[in-house]
Amino acid sequence: MMNKVLFLVAVIVAVMASSVKAFTLNMMSGRKPLMGGNWKLNPQTTKDATSLATEFAKKVKGKTDVDIVIFPPHPFLFPVYEKVEATNVQMGGQNCFFESDGAYTGAVSTCMLQDVGVKYVLCGHSERRCVFKDDDTAIARKVKKVIKQGMNAVLCFGETQEEYEAGLNHEVCAIQLLKDLSMVTPEEMSQVVLAYEPVWAIGTGLVCPADVAQEVHQFCRSVIAKKYGQAIADKVIIQYGGSVKPENVKEIMSQPDIDGCLVGGASLTADSFAKIVHFNDQ
Ligand code: 13P
Repeated sequence: MMNKVLFLVAVIVAVMASSVKAFTLNMMSGRKPLMGGNWKLNPQTTKDATSLATEFAKKVKGKTDVDIVIFPPHPFLFPVYEKVEATNVQMGGQNCFFESDGAYTGAVSTCMLQDVGVKYVLCGHSERRCVFKDDDTAIARKVKKVIKQGMNAVLCFGETQEEYEAGLNHEVCAIQLLKDLSMVTPEEMSQVVLAYEPVWAIGTGLVCPADVAQEVHQFCRSVIAKKYGQAIADKVIIQYGGSVKPENVKEIMSQPDIDGCLVGGASLTADSFAKIVHFNDQ
């Protein structure tokens, strides 16, 4: 009888352990998962932006074991902020300029972003690197400026398809990380989030296999450890981005060095992004 009870207890513990594996791993590491929704050049009107944010905030209400941030286009930041201000959904900016003020037509300063409720700013997204030709010098200055402003920089990096196929993903990630963090002090690393986004997996439906992503994340953490020491590397949040969907988020998040996701397409509907945020609730 006693043996049967012990067996039953062991089975229950094993089932519970596997179902909360992803969350437990993050809890063990002390890194709280961070889910980001990068809306890119969407939607097109204030009305659509505010209803997307309102609907999404309703669906993730009370979810406090995951940090949540959305990155609407600049013109919608303030109206969206007004909708989510009193919720657990935080605001992010998709870009900024590294100068504070002056004759820079079309630029947006970190002070302006902070003034409309922004807490996180994307730096070095591959679309900024490829389409808008942001180079590592500019990205390093943006990261520093965001930190100096008292916000969190989300530094995006990752290799192209050709680089991936040539087996250069480690080298490319290490170079981007070291160049883009060149102005960041160890103390400032608490204001840095890293986002590994293999360019070939962005918007293509080609998700990077979870074990490959894990291996790159682990490598990137070792790059941070070499530069800043193990304690800082153990604390830094490293997100994965590239075709994350409700269907694949659980597997991605079960990897020990993946601490969150940066989501593009699937963050444009409240339902799918809410499902991603609730990855550890099923
Ligand atoms: P997708 O999720 O659409 O692939 O975009 C990823 C991304 O670029 C997030 O910043």
